[in-house]
Amino acid sequence: MKGVFVVSSETIKKQLEHRTIREFKDTPIDKDIVRQLLEVANRTSTSVGMQSYSIIRITDPQKKGKIAEICGQKYVNRLPEFWIFVVDAFRNAKIAAEQNFYPESRNDMDRFFQGFTDASLAAQNVMVAVESLDMGGCFFGSILNDSQQIIEILNLPEYTFPVLGIGFGYPNQNPQLKPRMGLDLKVFENEYKVEDSYLESIKDYDLEMQEYYDLRDSNRRVDSFSKQVISRLTNTIENRLKIINTIRRQGFDLQMEYIPEGEIRTMFKISPKEVKEHSFEESKSGLKLDTNLADLFSKHPYIKSYLLNINPKFNKIKSINSNDELKSTTIEDLSKLGDMPAESLIYMIESRIDEE
Ligand SMILES: Cc1cc2nc3c(=O)[nH]c(=O)nc-3n(C[C@H](O)[C@H](O)[C@H](O)COP(=O)(O)O)c2cc1C
Repeated sequence: MKGVFVVSSETIKKQLEHRTIREFKDTPIDKDIVRQLLEVANRTSTSVGMQSYSIIRITDPQKKGKIAEICGQKYVNRLPEFWIFVVDAFRNAKIAAEQNFYPESRNDMDRFFQGFTDASLAAQNVMVAVESLDMGGCFFGSILNDSQQIIEILNLPEYTFPVLGIGFGYPNQNPQLKPRMGLDLKVFENEYKVEDSYLESIKDYDLEMQEYYDLRDSNRRVDSFSKQVISRLTNTIENRLKIINTIRRQGFDLQMEYIPEGEIRTMFKISPKEVKEHSFEESKSGLKLDTNLADLFSKHPYIKSYLLNINPKFNKIKSINSNDELKSTTIEDLSKLGDMPAESLIYMIESRIDEE
């Protein structure tokens, strides 16, 4: 799909010249321009008109310093403007609460994703406006290296969550355009198309990427894209893998259901990574593989309906009426019935007990 074409607007011209800018002149940004950029964010399309996002402008150098550490990027300290976009379902929940209305949907994952999309769109809209003014900027997804700490630094209330940061100002560097993969690999008509060999299809792109100089990397050429994929995919940050837990702690209702292994799509049937064997003895609330259902339900009566909710295979419990039968059915039996590992089942039951 490559080829020469006539650029039909000034906006598109700027967009096709996009490069991330990470070093800036000391020139301050006029406060009227800041105001206009905020208005651009405010004018961005927003899911069902709910405006479920907020922007936090970071002007305190100490806070900037703390965030720079979380991002692992010193240049955050030097950003002339630094804004953090957050999912904000808190404001609307409050608007409802002040009318004595506490709908369950105020903090569900639909609200979360609406806010996440709203925040991302507003951030990109600001970036387009920034570039239209001959300024430049950078997104900071790295704030999520420690989302819990960002929540504390920004004093974010329940039903909010940080999405990304943007930093911008007048550029003090002139980076090359970073090559992109061909559109034929990314744009499809009517249905997804899987390539026979991606490595073969990106051969030219790999070479093109090796010609690119990343200014962050002491003016060194970068690896081919296929090698970058390997290094990025193997370089994971523990906190980021567990991000869903912070989202839950912020009060969003994940409504997770147990999905049997066999129903989960995967590219590898067996993970190539070695899985360490470990034996399970007792959970923190004393649940064991041989804990029987009679004891479990008498101590935590709500667990029965919870089990029926999470896995349709547990419907069989409904037909167990006698206490003797419940006594002879263990958590291990239940896990077999539900086609799920006993430890996961115990973990889920325990999380439910913790909620109570
Ligand atoms: C959601 C998102 C998060 C990003 N996070 C960071 C970041 O934390 N630090 C950074 O230096 N660049 C970040 N970037 C910038 C990308 O590295 C950059 O857009 C990409 O390498 C392509 O380069 P280009 O924008 O110069 O074309 C982010 C970009 C996006 C879209």
